[in-house]
Amino acid sequence: MAGRLAGKVALVTGAAQGIGAGIARAMAAEGARVVAADRNVAGCETLADEIGVEALALDVTSEDDWAAAAGHIAASHGSLSILVNNAGVELVKPMTEHSLADWRGLMAVNVDGLFLGCRTMQPLLAASGAASVVNISSIAGLVGYPDQLAYNTSKGAVRHMTKSLAIEWASHALPIRCNSIHPGCIRTPMLEMAVEGWVREGSIPADDPWAAVASLCPLNAVGSPEDIGMGAVYLGSDEARFVTGIELVIDGGWVAR
Ligand SMILES: NC(=O)c1ccc[n+]([C@@H]2O[C@H](COP(=O)([O-])OP(=O)(O)OC[C@H]3O[C@@H](n4cnc5c(N)ncnc54)[C@H](O)[C@@H]3O)[C@@H](O)[C@H]2O)c1
Repeated sequence: MAGRLAGKVALVTGAAQGIGAGIARAMAAEGARVVAADRNVAGCETLADEIGVEALALDVTSEDDWAAAAGHIAASHGSLSILVNNAGVELVKPMTEHSLADWRGLMAVNVDGLFLGCRTMQPLLAASGAASVVNISSIAGLVGYPDQLAYNTSKGAVRHMTKSLAIEWASHALPIRCNSIHPGCIRTPMLEMAVEGWVREGSIPADDPWAAVASLCPLNAVGSPEDIGMGAVYLGSDEARFVTGIELVIDGGWVAR
């Protein structure tokens, strides 16, 4: 199939819904052979039936699952051109209400999951000859927001892990670029839950909450998973062959103020 990602194999984590599904769709539309991975494998199977990608059960916190995913990709595809570390969880409450278990549970997905993915997949990425890792951070990895300390800290770690790996891989002459994407407000099940919470606490009006969310953004809009998919396609493609270690902010101007 022709396209900007023709001939490439892409593994997208957290692909059962939201931004991950948007990235899987965008990459498949550009000709990549996409492996859609999630701990919710039923969600990936639904997507697989719809757009003809492969579904894979993967809990990103599990070393064994990552080893099994690598074995599957080696056997079915031989190498991996694009790894999108997208799976993530959020936690919204004041810092004093974060238990240590909350903190560790969130870090296990948002930080350990990326480390395990990059470490396990490095040989398969290198074997592709021109690989790209795309890590999904957040605008919360660039600036502070109240009542989400663990989340913000995890996304700051994603930003820095990205730059560190970009430099490490380049210094070892490994053909793997590594960049982060920093989405603003993107309409997904994760943001829908957050918006329900803001309505309950009265910080945005119940009658048209999405208009209220949009009005917080300079472009007066809420983004869609497709907006992030377009950025991931660029970073995954050979058009970005000179791009490594960057932060691609896709947020309607939110952090430009
Ligand atoms: N939606 C936004 O506004 C927004 C903004 C900035 C950053 N992000 C980031 O984008 C990414 C995707 O967010 P979303 O809004 O699509 O969230 P979502 O909750 O709608 O989807 C997340 C997906 O990740 C999967 N997942 C969670 N834990 C997992 C695990 N341990 N192993 C495998 N899969 C797991 C879930 O099953 C789900 O399918 C996250 O990293 C999130 O932090 C989202």
